[in-house]
Amino acid sequence: MRYEPMNPQTFDLFADAEPEQQPKCVQIGEQSCVLRGFALPWLDRVLPALEIVLAAAAFRQMVTPGGFTMSVALSSCGTLGWTTDRSGYRYTRHDPQTGKPWPAMPEVFLQLAQAAAQEAGFMDFAPDSCLINRYVPGSKMSLHQDKDEHDFAAPIVSISLGLPAMFLFGGFERSDKSQRIPLLHGDIVVWGGVDRLRYHGVLPIKDGTHPQLGEQRINFTFRTAG
Ligand code: SIN
Ligand code: FE2
Repeated sequence: MRYEPMNPQTFDLFADAEPEQQPKCVQIGEQSCVLRGFALPWLDRVLPALEIVLAAAAFRQMVTPGGFTMSVALSSCGTLGWTTDRSGYRYTRHDPQTGKPWPAMPEVFLQLAQAAAQEAGFMDFAPDSCLINRYVPGSKMSLHQDKDEHDFAAPIVSISLGLPAMFLFGGFERSDKSQRIPLLHGDIVVWGGVDRLRYHGVLPIKDGTHPQLGEQRINFTFRTAG
């Protein structure tokens, strides 16, 4: 008798009707991956919550310790907000512009960040900080490590909205070669564990108009800082 290999397609016809499983987190490192479009179903709730945060803590351009004005404008929500001025980088409980505590992290932000972390294999993510970066065309973020946090056990969850960006995901030295990862509206990058201190950055944003967000890219970076 001839051996007839089972045709997987025929086999599938008789399988239980399982929902289509998307290949979820696309690996870009040992403990880092990209979740394509993961934020999209959340945006009906995320964008109104963002408006409320920005009404209390508007975008502003900050100065680095070296005296350069960042091309990216920043805001924050959560217990701790990342800030920079001539005296250094740090997390603060108060918005230096208003003197008030940073706006609370909206529940939907927290849920989305936790769902993304979990999908990437990081359970129990408890971010206390969400940095909100606003890029206009030409804005960029030079290669850097996120290392102002108290400890590095928790991952970074980074959500992209609006105009596309070319994300640079490097190694552990600034001079290491970077991967170039195109990020679109709704994509989420998660890095942690052995990859937690990898250099990363964003190339200058190209001119364009996003149908929902206009001439800007918004990035949320969730961290456990305190
Ligand atoms: C950051 O590293 O703070 C921002 C990364 C990004 O905008 O994608
Ligand atoms: Fe960063």
